[in-house]
Amino acid sequence: MTLGEAKDFSYLYSDETKARKPSPLKTCIHLFQDPNIIFLGGGLPLSDYFPWDNLVVDSPLPPFAKGIGAPLTGTKEDSLKVSIKKQDQSNGTIPLARGLQYGFTNGQPELIKFLKEHNTIIHDMKYADWDVIATTGNTNAWESTLRIFCNKGDVILAEAHSFSSSLASAEAQGVIVFPLPIDQNGIIPEKLEAIMDNWNPEAAKPKLLYTIPTGQNPTGTSLADDRKEKIYRIAQKHDFIIVEDEPYYFLQMEPYIRDPKERTAKKLTHEEFLKSLAKTFLSIDTEGRVIRLDSFSKVLAPATRLGWITASKSILQSYVYLHEMTIQAASGFTQALVAGTLNSWGQDGYLDWLLGLRHEYTLKRDNAIDALHKYLPKTDAFVVNPPIAGMFFTVDIDASAHPEFKAKYDSDPAQVEHAIYEKVISSGVLVVPGSWFKTEGETVPPQPVESKMTGNRNEIFFRGTYAAVSPEKLTEGLKRLSIALKEEFGL
Ligand SMILES: Cc1ncc(COP(=O)(O)O)c(C=O)c1O
Repeated sequence: MTLGEAKDFSYLYSDETKARKPSPLKTCIHLFQDPNIIFLGGGLPLSDYFPWDNLVVDSPLPPFAKGIGAPLTGTKEDSLKVSIKKQDQSNGTIPLARGLQYGFTNGQPELIKFLKEHNTIIHDMKYADWDVIATTGNTNAWESTLRIFCNKGDVILAEAHSFSSSLASAEAQGVIVFPLPIDQNGIIPEKLEAIMDNWNPEAAKPKLLYTIPTGQNPTGTSLADDRKEKIYRIAQKHDFIIVEDEPYYFLQMEPYIRDPKERTAKKLTHEEFLKSLAKTFLSIDTEGRVIRLDSFSKVLAPATRLGWITASKSILQSYVYLHEMTIQAASGFTQALVAGTLNSWGQDGYLDWLLGLRHEYTLKRDNAIDALHKYLPKTDAFVVNPPIAGMFFTVDIDASAHPEFKAKYDSDPAQVEHAIYEKVISSGVLVVPGSWFKTEGETVPPQPVESKMTGNRNEIFFRGTYAAVSPEKLTEGLKRLSIALKEEFGL
């Protein structure tokens, strides 16, 4: 089947993007690589003077038989030497002479090729002219997205609780972030539709929906596949772009099974693994309305500062023009190391790695939820919803169940939240209050009151992670948390 082309969404661009002219110097930089051109056109240092001749790293060898966290012996049994040289371009490695030079704002070809192949394995792309560019991670990609689409005073939509840095980034640019109600399966399409259908016509309409569909930060929820289809139709009807920020996409786990005896450690085949993954907005998108942000932060290492954006070629061109003036390019060392490693592993090896992560995170999540079930007081006031993806669990708390809700805290859930926060810290454990992640924007003039009802006002929650500590520390931390809640609620 021949796929159609993406629609032109440039009418949604910010004034900055509409006004941006590509730097004339950048229009000829590609000729630096042309052997027929003697390039006297730019301030590029000669690569002979780069003080690195090669990079050699040991990385684990697929299929990571001993698990992905096992220490390496440095032998052929479990280790792979990734060797990157100044001039050598074999095996998909980026020659340092090119990788450490200016240029390739969109990313080095060896990395981009791998990522495009990876994308076609993961997503069922439904239009022809999509592409991929490298970024310095999703923080950068989101900040750029805001600049590309939004003027000061523009409105975007986001989950009612969302990643605080992403919200802060929007607010700093004067962008209003309007909250959308969510439940255990993410954004509720019917509520989104009602909000959009009743949108105050005198307020600017949202240009973007910013969503973290998988292992949402901070709620740990994942957006159900059937909801994605509905949300996409609403985006078409009300003409906004969907930005899926997906750093946790490959931390999808086995469903939580309460009885440990019923859990199986069955290793999935690649086919089963791919089938198990959540449907992506990209796989639904027929017209280039989705911008997907992927990152290596949670699957390789955060300080690689490397990620990628998938979108239509025309939208990506705007990012490239912006990045030429901002980040210039993702680090050459990082691109060389990551592309060298991934191309040595191959697509199958990378799937093995992601499968290994799935296994590890399933164990961590099970450990955390088991401990919460064991230690948390058994009362309806505390609810734990086992996540199916990501790094976060939440403990949902009915603040009105606090014995001093009225007398001491003036029936104010925020005061109860603060009291709990202080109590857990003094008990030697840190979990963070849900209110830190609250999406609180309001349009001018405001939206109807019903559009702002995002749930039970007495419900508060705390976010914790099972990713960052050893199983022993995690259990001890959750024990402390449970005792603190028990004492605070006088149970
Ligand atoms: C939803 C979300 N987006 C983006 C980021 C940052 O990603 P990166 O390290 O790729 O900048 C995080 C990290 O915590 C996150 O939770």
